[in-house]
Amino acid sequence: MGKNLAARAVTNASAMRSQRRTARNFILRSAIAGLVATTVLYLATPLRAQDANAQAAGILPTDPLAGRAVFSEKGCIKCHAIWGQGGDLGPDMARAGVRLSMLQLAGVLWDHTPAMIEKMRERRIERPALSTQEMADLAAFLYFLNYLDLPGDPEAGEAVFAKQGCVKCHSIGGTGGHVGPSLDKYKKFASPLFMIRAMWSHGPAMASKMAGLGITRPRFQGHDLADVAAYLRQASSEADVNKVYLVPGSPARGQKTFADKGCVKCHAIHGEGGHAGPDLGQLELHQGITEIAGLMWNHAPQMWSRMEAMKIAIPQFSDREISDLLAYLYFLRYYDPPGDAVKGQRIFMEKGCVLCHYAPIGGKPTGPDLSHSHAISSPVELCSAMWNHAPKMEAMIRERGLPWPQFRDDEVRDLVAYLRSAAAQSDQNPAEPR
Ligand code: HEC
Ligand code: HEC
Ligand code: HEC
Ligand code: HEC
Repeated sequence: MGKNLAARAVTNASAMRSQRRTARNFILRSAIAGLVATTVLYLATPLRAQDANAQAAGILPTDPLAGRAVFSEKGCIKCHAIWGQGGDLGPDMARAGVRLSMLQLAGVLWDHTPAMIEKMRERRIERPALSTQEMADLAAFLYFLNYLDLPGDPEAGEAVFAKQGCVKCHSIGGTGGHVGPSLDKYKKFASPLFMIRAMWSHGPAMASKMAGLGITRPRFQGHDLADVAAYLRQASSEADVNKVYLVPGSPARGQKTFADKGCVKCHAIHGEGGHAGPDLGQLELHQGITEIAGLMWNHAPQMWSRMEAMKIAIPQFSDREISDLLAYLYFLRYYDPPGDAVKGQRIFMEKGCVLCHYAPIGGKPTGPDLSHSHAISSPVELCSAMWNHAPKMEAMIRERGLPWPQFRDDEVRDLVAYLRSAAAQSDQNPAEPR
């Protein structure tokens, strides 16, 4: 066994050496070669092993609204509106910041740095520095915007209500069937979550009525449930009532609800948990939480029969619990899955970070060594370091007449994977030059 490991280590080491040679050649050939040709660069080779836990590590926010205060105190609001409230020098955040993971946000903030700096100069607004905690709050808040705002389209909701057969059993505003209760009372709820919770708890009884009447079980997609809730609010014959608002869910509490209600017995999250149902860490979401609620509804009959087989009671929720639970599931995509270090190395070179962030042998780098920077210790550290140091970099890059590098998709994630693996590797080989 020990021998095997040793043999593997030797193979790895020689694979690394050859990768390193390729990396060096690549730099020399790359677009930026002209600028670095005179410099002999040493670059650590990415380790393919991925540091999943470290990178995905991040504590779920307890209060995703905490960032609202940061957004106004730091002056973002002077230039950016949220659903129309605020300045208009920059894009409306509720539309622009749609569910960006932490590292995607780092990339987007970076991309817009020169234009933001320009506007700040023009308006004499000082560029705010952001502590790690402030960046964490801001990022969670921006991510949450899409969860918060679910106005729904009443017209689309009316169509769903008719097409899915709800109207056969439920009346609203005086029309419809009477198999189930009238839904007029849903007027007062500002959030679709109340209706969603009721539908979940009455789900099995509704299902048996549907089966009895030969009505196909409704299925929901995307925004459907938010639209139905908006329709109920509009069509209800109840007089104007005091609206009931729901405090937005807490992803951190929702994680506990997920365990307490037994979801975790059947669902893993990124591999951890039961396997009777799909791993919910892989949920592809395009909308807010009503989409998740729709998925739970669509799959409910299969879940119920599994629960029966496994002798798990069908969980019931309070309004707060369903809201926390959905907030938790919604936030599963907030932390980035591990990136690809090999791609990250390319990005590091192609974007020109290498020009200032690696030392020529015997020389000193212009910027700090990123593989040994606090900046790569967590996604949020990177996000705030890139924000805080961008002005100085912007000035230097402009002085040198270089283009401002732009990030696409998940490039920052891959970059981090590379920087981490470079750090891990140089710690393993302290004698190697850096
Ligand atoms: C002086 C005005 C100003 C301030 C203050 C400001 N921004 Fe911006 N921001 C802009 C402008 C202008 C753009 C568009 C830049 C472009 O077109 O490249 C922008 C773009 C952005 C984007 C990218 C939006 C997109 O289109 O995807 C994000 C995210 C962002 N800002 C976040 C913030 C945050 C967070 C703060 C507060 C810490 C902030 N901004 C403060 C002016 C500002
Ligand atoms: C086959 C008839 C039937 C259909 C179709 C149906 N429901 Fe129901 N629904 C019921 C019955 C019966 C109940 C009460 C169940 C109980 O007593 O637990 C109910 C309960 C509800 C409740 C809880 C009501 C309360 O008092 O809080 C909501 C909300 C609801 N349904 C929404 C819908 C929506 C939205 C649709 C369409 C997507 C729909 N239902 C389709 C029969 C139906
Ligand atoms: C007894 C096992 C079991 C329990 C407990 C359970 N589920 Fe499920 N769940 C399943 C199965 C099986 C499926 C897939 C059903 C299908 O194929 O239609 C599923 C599907 C889902 C889906 C849709 C996934 C997708 O990829 O579309 C969601 C969301 C979901 N469950 C959430 C939950 C939540 C939240 C809880 C806790 C309240 C929970 N489940 C409890 C077994 C379970
Ligand atoms: C023109 C030179 C230059 C280029 C190109 C450059 N940087 Fe920098 N970078 C610097 C300097 C100088 C600093 C220190 C700035 C300061 O003190 O505010 C810095 C700081 C940083 C920091 C903060 C590090 C810490 O330890 O606090 C990060 C993160 C960073 N850069 C990332 C990048 C990335 C990613 C790229 C490529 C997209 C890049 N830089 C390209 C010069 C550059």
